[in-house]
Amino acid sequence: IDPAVTGSGRVLLAAPRGYCAGVDRAVVAVEKALERYGSPVYVRKQIVHNVHVVRRLEQEGAVFVDEVDEVPEGAHVVFSAHGVSPAVVRAAGERRLQAIDATCPLVTKVHREAVRFARDDRHILLIGHHGHEEVEGTMGEAPDRTTLVGSPDEADVVEVADPDNLVWLSQTTLSVDETMETVRRLRVRFPNLQDPPSDDICYATQNRQVAVKKVARDADVVLVVGSANSSNSVRLVEVALEHGATSAHRIDDASELDPAWLEGAGTVGVTSGASVPERLVEELLRVLAGLGFGTVEEVRTAEEDLVFSLPRELRRDRTGAP
Ligand code: F3S
Repeated sequence: IDPAVTGSGRVLLAAPRGYCAGVDRAVVAVEKALERYGSPVYVRKQIVHNVHVVRRLEQEGAVFVDEVDEVPEGAHVVFSAHGVSPAVVRAAGERRLQAIDATCPLVTKVHREAVRFARDDRHILLIGHHGHEEVEGTMGEAPDRTTLVGSPDEADVVEVADPDNLVWLSQTTLSVDETMETVRRLRVRFPNLQDPPSDDICYATQNRQVAVKKVARDADVVLVVGSANSSNSVRLVEVALEHGATSAHRIDDASELDPAWLEGAGTVGVTSGASVPERLVEELLRVLAGLGFGTVEEVRTAEEDLVFSLPRELRRDRTGAP
C-alpha cells in the first residue's frame, strides 16, 4: 500500500533531538553580543555547525571568519562552541580583540582534563576526528603530549613512546559504540590505558543516539536533519543504520528530501542534530504529511533540562562591572 495514496504513513519522531544546552548558549551569545555591541560582531569559525543558524546570524550582522587575524584590531570576536586552542586565545590577545568565549562548558571540561594529564606527565590518546575544530582545540592544550586516534582501525596501529603511561580522552560528539570499540582495541595493545575521570561524549550526543536507536528499530527510513560538517548529526545517520533502519539520510532541511527515499516505506524516523533549530524539523514534518506521512508519534527516551549560563564576558553589565 502506498502511504502517499492512503495517507497511512507514520512518522516516529525521536526525542531528545535538536538543540543542546551548549549550542543554545553559543547562539544566544552571538545574539547578545550583537545587541550589546552592534554589528559587526566577528565569530571565529561557524558558531555551531549548522548552515541555517550561520546564515541567520550573518543576516543579523555577525561576520564569520576562519582565523582571528581576519578580525580588525580591538573588535569583538566570539569563539565558537567547539572551543579554541590556547594559541588562538593568545593570537586574539595580541590583536587586542575583545574575546567572548562561547566554548561549550562540556568541551572546556575535556580541555581541563587534557591540561591536568599533561601536567602529570601522562600521554593522552585523544579519540576524535582528524581536522575537526573541537579536536584541534583540545590537542592545542598539550600538543606534545597528545596523539589523535581517529577510528577503531587507527587504534590497531597508533604508535606511542610510553605505552604504560597512557590515558584516553575523546571528542564530545562521537558515536558511543564506536568509541567503546576504539577503546577496546587500544586496551588490547595497551593494557594499562587509563579511562577519563568522566564521560567526554556529552549528554546531548548520548541522548540523541539512544533515541535514534529506538526509532530506527521500527522505521524503514530515518531522516536526520543536520549539516554535513556536524559531527553529531553524521553520527546519528550511522547509528540509525547500525540499529535497524534500512536507509538513513542526512538533510540540511526539507528541500533536500527526495520522495524516492520513501517509496515502499510505512514508517519514517525523524531526528535532528544538536545544532539544528526545531523549525527545520517542523518544516520537514509538514512536507512528510503532504507525502502521506501525517501521523506523528514521539519516541522519547530521556528528558533534558540542562541550561548553561552565558559566557562570563556577557554576564557583566554594560558598564563593564562584574
Ligand atoms: Fe556541548 Fe554536547 Fe552540545 S559538547 S555543544 S552539549 S553537543
